[in-house]
Amino acid sequence: MKNKNNKNRNYKVAVIPGDGTGPEVIAEALKVLDAASRISGFKLDLTRFDYGGERYLKTGKVLTDKEMAGLKKFDAILLGAVGHPDVKPGILEKGLLLKVRFGLEQYINLRPVKLYPGVWTPLRDKGPNDIDFVVVRENNEGLYVGEGKFINKGKKNEVALQVSRNTRKGVERCIRYAFEFTRKRNKRKKLTLCGKTNVLTYAHDLWWRTFNEVAKEYPDIKTDYAHVDATCMWMVKNPEWFDVIVTDNMFGDIITDLGAMIQGGMGIAAGGNLNPEGVSMFEPIGGSAPKYTGQNVINPLAAICAGGMMMSSLGEEKAAQNIENAVMDVTKNKLKSLSAGKMGCGTREVGDLVVEAFEKSAQKVEV
Ligand code: IPM
Ligand code: MN
Repeated sequence: MKNKNNKNRNYKVAVIPGDGTGPEVIAEALKVLDAASRISGFKLDLTRFDYGGERYLKTGKVLTDKEMAGLKKFDAILLGAVGHPDVKPGILEKGLLLKVRFGLEQYINLRPVKLYPGVWTPLRDKGPNDIDFVVVRENNEGLYVGEGKFINKGKKNEVALQVSRNTRKGVERCIRYAFEFTRKRNKRKKLTLCGKTNVLTYAHDLWWRTFNEVAKEYPDIKTDYAHVDATCMWMVKNPEWFDVIVTDNMFGDIITDLGAMIQGGMGIAAGGNLNPEGVSMFEPIGGSAPKYTGQNVINPLAAICAGGMMMSSLGEEKAAQNIENAVMDVTKNKLKSLSAGKMGCGTREVGDLVVEAFEKSAQKVEV
């Protein structure tokens, strides 16, 4: 059930802590959400699922179709991390993360790239005013559809094909979402299409034509285009040029890791897999970080920010804003670094600091 008009402000959330450090960061996100619900007056009805590597190793199940259908009954999903050192790469990623993204038609992957105050960025001359943009990544198509084949597998003349599937419907709904989002965000009102029209002369020809057609309906939004390689260059040299970037699934995957680095690393980067008409899933975009598991050293801020994005998508804008303010307060005033083990305090303490800052900032807003 979608809940923008959920009058009783009671939200059913599926929680999948997942693998590695996933459970640790989710615990802190839930701590902050609990404080938010107490202060803001909404209710979260949480159901936990043990989907992930451990369960797979015990039962051979990743996520059955029935289990996936079960997730449709929730208002939102909060995911920790997938990826287990004893499970062959790809099994959990495809069978859990991508299965949910595709199965629940979460066709947008929304990834804000925002440098919070006090956070170190490798871009020497750039600050929070320069690094503040959002990537709208297509999340259901492109190279991620898993279409392809081997010809002469294992032989000297082997050929491997991997199809990038781009449908007019899929491209258009993504681009349309990006225009609407740029308008609603109301910052620089500029949308940049990131592609590779000079080489991907079929796929990105469709993206280019669709972008220009849809743009006509948004005369208030400035449009721009950059090839993906140039996008990487500008993200480093002039990140202030970007407001919103829309791009395909594969390019979006790549440029948002670069984005995560310029905003302070995987410890802070959050994203939402959105089905604007259905059930969305929120996650820290870093992985399960097996080597840091169980040591109380991983940074939970990305998971906390994912929780904030979830509240925003559920229509609890004020709580979402207060969570972000609290995170900014903590990055500015409390943490030495955003890197695992170097924060100057532990995972649980970061959660406590955000709760403390949240309580302070929420009170200020209410006065
Ligand atoms: C991400 C991840 C996933 C992706 C992997 C784990 C399949 O890198 O969320 O960006 O490629 O989308
Ligand atoms: Mn990625």
